[in-house]
Amino acid sequence: MSSPEARGNWGSKIAFIFAASGSAIGLGSIWRFPIMVSHNGGAIFVFAYILAVIFIGFTVMLAELAIGRHAQKNPVGAFKYLKPGTPWKFVGYMGVITGVCILSYYSVVAGWAFGYLYKTVVGTFKGEVSWAESERIFSNFAANPLETIICLFIIIALTTWVISRGVKGGIERWSKILMPMLFGLIIFLAIRALTLPGAGTGISFYLKPDLSRLNINVFFFAVGQAFFSLSLGMGTMMTYGSYISKRDNLVSSAGWVCFSTTLVAFLAGMIIFPTLFATPGINPGEFKAGTGLMFQVFPIIISKLPGGYIFGVLFFILLLVAALTSTISLLEVPTAFLIDEHNWRREKAASFIGALSFLLGIPSALSVGGSSYLSRLGIMGKMDLIFGNIMLAVGALLICIFLAYSWGVTSALKEISSGNPDFRLKPLWVFNVKILAPLAIILILIFIKRITG
Ligand code: TRP
Repeated sequence: MSSPEARGNWGSKIAFIFAASGSAIGLGSIWRFPIMVSHNGGAIFVFAYILAVIFIGFTVMLAELAIGRHAQKNPVGAFKYLKPGTPWKFVGYMGVITGVCILSYYSVVAGWAFGYLYKTVVGTFKGEVSWAESERIFSNFAANPLETIICLFIIIALTTWVISRGVKGGIERWSKILMPMLFGLIIFLAIRALTLPGAGTGISFYLKPDLSRLNINVFFFAVGQAFFSLSLGMGTMMTYGSYISKRDNLVSSAGWVCFSTTLVAFLAGMIIFPTLFATPGINPGEFKAGTGLMFQVFPIIISKLPGGYIFGVLFFILLLVAALTSTISLLEVPTAFLIDEHNWRREKAASFIGALSFLLGIPSALSVGGSSYLSRLGIMGKMDLIFGNIMLAVGALLICIFLAYSWGVTSALKEISSGNPDFRLKPLWVFNVKILAPLAIILILIFIKRITG
């Protein structure tokens, strides 16, 4: 097992916030969130999501950071260290497997971002782009097996390369420069979208809740989306937490990560829905978003900007970077596991998991856009439902139960008080981690069973 020094540490608290936000902010907020909103009743989902972040996401994030920093290990190692000889380590194994599976299809979508960067550079979206055209461009692209698999390969190769170089050299340097740029560009595009003629329909779909659309499914997907977008439920934040210094404040760090991620997701919706429903012939009642929603809408908003070419190129570069800082964090968990628990060399561990995710990603890559057997099965959607919603929820549930009833709230609070002697939200967090979050997740999981089964 490697010493804390050999594992690497974040340069400072700000560096941790950037890296953790880099993990959190990505396709989850920009690609997945708008799809979830459009499938789950619009504004009502937005509110459910915000509640889920505040009451459940933040709670689980602090739990993961405390466990990770205390144990100074990957998820499997952390459970083994805190409760040796118990089955808790299987929660860690579950996280490692979930990480590889999410990485596989997530990288396919990141590959699309790469493909779109290429398309933008060569001028595919020059001039006004109509909705029909944009739809056609996306489905042609997603249905092309060679292109999507090459893009998938490029993403996994880049991720593996960064992870091979270690935490500090790799993750930190990228996040610090590029995340603020992404943020700026998103705000700018949101302002443009909001000032489009006809933006009003989209704004009310997005912000005016229709209570009749509220059901348990909305909560299931809102909680799942909170975990997915905040990188929770599989030990990513545990692993990242293991690199935080004892002097840093876990509570405010977790708060910042939750806030910045939610803000980006919110703004992404502010771009997508006004643009989408300002497009002639598309109205919220009949519209059914597919996996390519973001890729169909962004070229349109970009084509409506003076100097759109430059903005388009810039946007897809930044999206790609946001996706890469997330794929990096997904790969880091299984890699840290192989390094710490099985003494693998970093390069070997990263390459092995990278190759595995590439192979696992191929069925997802072949399942969108065409009419193949795989696409009728909806492989990517199923992977996302199983690993991106259910497994993360189960993982988060078990992490709360572990912290509250096995490791113990007292030990966790002691860890949290290091770097933050005066934890004002303490009673609320204790209640959430012991009762509210586990109960809510259990209820949701029971109900979703009834819905799908
Ligand atoms: N949160 C990232 C996003 O929204 C994806 C991600 C990275 C993730 N690490 C994770 C999701 C761990 C779940 C668990 O783009």
